[in-house]
Amino acid sequence: MSDTKLYPVPAEFAQNSLLNDSAYQAMYKHSINDPEAFWREQGQIVDWIKPYSQVKNTSFQPGSIDIKWFQDGKLNVSANCLDRHLKDNANKTAIIWEGDNPADSEKLTYQDVYEKVCQFSNALKAQGIKKGDVVCLYMPMIPEAAIAMLACTRIGAVHTIVFAGFSAGALAERINNCGAKLVITADEGVRAGRIIRLKDCVDKALAKPQVTSVNNVIVFARTKADIAWHEGRDLWWHDVVKDQPSECEPEAMNAEDPLFILYTSGSTGKPKGVLHTTGGYLVYATMTFKYVFDHQDSDVFWCTADVGWITGHSYLVYGPLANAATTVLFEGVPNYPDTARMSQVIDKHQVTTLYTAPTAIRALMAKGDDAIAGTKRTSLRLMGSVGEPINPEAWRWYYNTIGNSSTPIVDTWWQTETGGILITPLPGATALKPGSATRPFFGISPALVDNEGNLLEGENEGNLVILDSWPGQMRGIYGDESRFEEAYFSTFPNMYCTGDGAKRDADGYYWITGRVDDVLNVSGHRMGTAEIESALVSHSKIAEAAVVGVPHDIKGQGIYAYVTLNAGEKADDALEAEVKQWVRNEIGAIATPDTLHWTQALPKTRSGKIMRRILRKIATNDTDSLGDTSTLADPSVVDTLIAEKQNA
Ligand code: PRX
Repeated sequence: MSDTKLYPVPAEFAQNSLLNDSAYQAMYKHSINDPEAFWREQGQIVDWIKPYSQVKNTSFQPGSIDIKWFQDGKLNVSANCLDRHLKDNANKTAIIWEGDNPADSEKLTYQDVYEKVCQFSNALKAQGIKKGDVVCLYMPMIPEAAIAMLACTRIGAVHTIVFAGFSAGALAERINNCGAKLVITADEGVRAGRIIRLKDCVDKALAKPQVTSVNNVIVFARTKADIAWHEGRDLWWHDVVKDQPSECEPEAMNAEDPLFILYTSGSTGKPKGVLHTTGGYLVYATMTFKYVFDHQDSDVFWCTADVGWITGHSYLVYGPLANAATTVLFEGVPNYPDTARMSQVIDKHQVTTLYTAPTAIRALMAKGDDAIAGTKRTSLRLMGSVGEPINPEAWRWYYNTIGNSSTPIVDTWWQTETGGILITPLPGATALKPGSATRPFFGISPALVDNEGNLLEGENEGNLVILDSWPGQMRGIYGDESRFEEAYFSTFPNMYCTGDGAKRDADGYYWITGRVDDVLNVSGHRMGTAEIESALVSHSKIAEAAVVGVPHDIKGQGIYAYVTLNAGEKADDALEAEVKQWVRNEIGAIATPDTLHWTQALPKTRSGKIMRRILRKIATNDTDSLGDTSTLADPSVVDTLIAEKQNA
């Protein structure tokens, strides 16, 4: 909490915003004192086919975890994102697509998206996809990704998007876990001038003997490259939509029907299929988008996240479109073809609201004013940050340089599991402190507890928990009911355990300090140490591995892997390159270790548990206070590791 300088709400912003501070205070109080009444009213932010009479039916009690919202209501997500806007906004731009190549861009109106979604919905039905079936998307950042998502929701199919940077093996594991019947992909993706052979990767995933659920693959022709074709299984997107009508009756979905599954990392080796349902998720995504980004009709909103992550779901697609906003979908990266690309896109499309990640900000900050060369960015009125703690230095650079020292920043804390933003400033209401996510959103009761689960009062630091349910909360881990309670409600009974640590200052502001479990956050991408370890030990020459996170200037955290080789194997540069490539192939480029530390033995307790606390300290040269090493089976291992680190 080094920087306590307050950035008050700019007067002009306060005047024109949806909520000022006293409105926030009153609404927040009401949301906590009477959640039932609060959400009964707020649930009306979306249109219901059958109105709900029940609102909140939730329990965090051990043994009877149950989360249901608006449970007797019926609605359709695509109808809320499209149909209801056609009366007044048919010709408003829904999606601005900006290609990887600055010469490529396209605008789609609400009417355009509506027709394309209906056609694709009919195409899905024609392939036998029904309500409740799981459809896997492995897509580049093109409008068809959003169209496919919305089409799934229109017919009641459950989508699971796998980030198109994941390997064939990771894709296969996810398809298999959810039993997807159909995969939607593109021939190739294009990013930073490079080609990503997506269809090849799908072919490799589907060739694995354990993957048996997929009947068809629909392929969008993005680059029109030559690709392998499996007759009878593979279908071109343009062929399946060709003769389909541009009307399709939306399916009336129960509020608690599954909407999507999104895999994320936990502290075990297997990714978790986070399940979100229809009504609560949509209400929460719609409402948080409206208030956190202070949505105005003329806004152009740009969220730089990929659709493969939760931020892409809630604030690239569902939140903006449910609010009839104009959303920018960008295929490329912030620094290609040159360092000022992000700023150029802001000027080109007159972006008013930019939502990006600290890792991107730090990468641009390292380039100084080149990141804004030749641009004005005067269209901006609000900026956001998400995915990891933003260091005050990066916050100030973002504010001063990208935002011309006049654009408020909302530092939004949330998770795949939470569906939408939980702790955040509201731009017309909250004075900002660089590095703080500030205060809870409506209906959210955060608290800090010590390691025994005792509530900590006032200015304090501890484990961040949430004391009561909110509509956007995940409903379960797909296919593994028991793991839900164990993963989120067993550490501290009667509370949702976030896995993050936080501080609370004298003003009641929260400062997220990062994960307290074995989850890493590398460039805002969440990864379990156990996943990387299991990829490492699947290499034939590796006996054992332990992975820890270390601070990294740009990525936030880097991956530091301790590796022991099988007897007779020798560590050298060639093996290092081979092992790094191995991990890329097993999981994806985002999991590539920054450092491999070859060693003979890892520090273990007598019961065989690896002492990561010590490994973390050695990796960061913090060896003066290693703490208690008396429980180690062989304390000399520690000295060897320290010496190896120093000589590296
Ligand atoms: O550690 C927190 C960090 O990202 C984790 C959630 O990752 P994921 O499920 O991939 O969702 C990322 C996008 C919502 C959290 O447990 N995190 C996210 N936002 C922030 C953050 N840490 C600090 N400040 C944030 N604003």
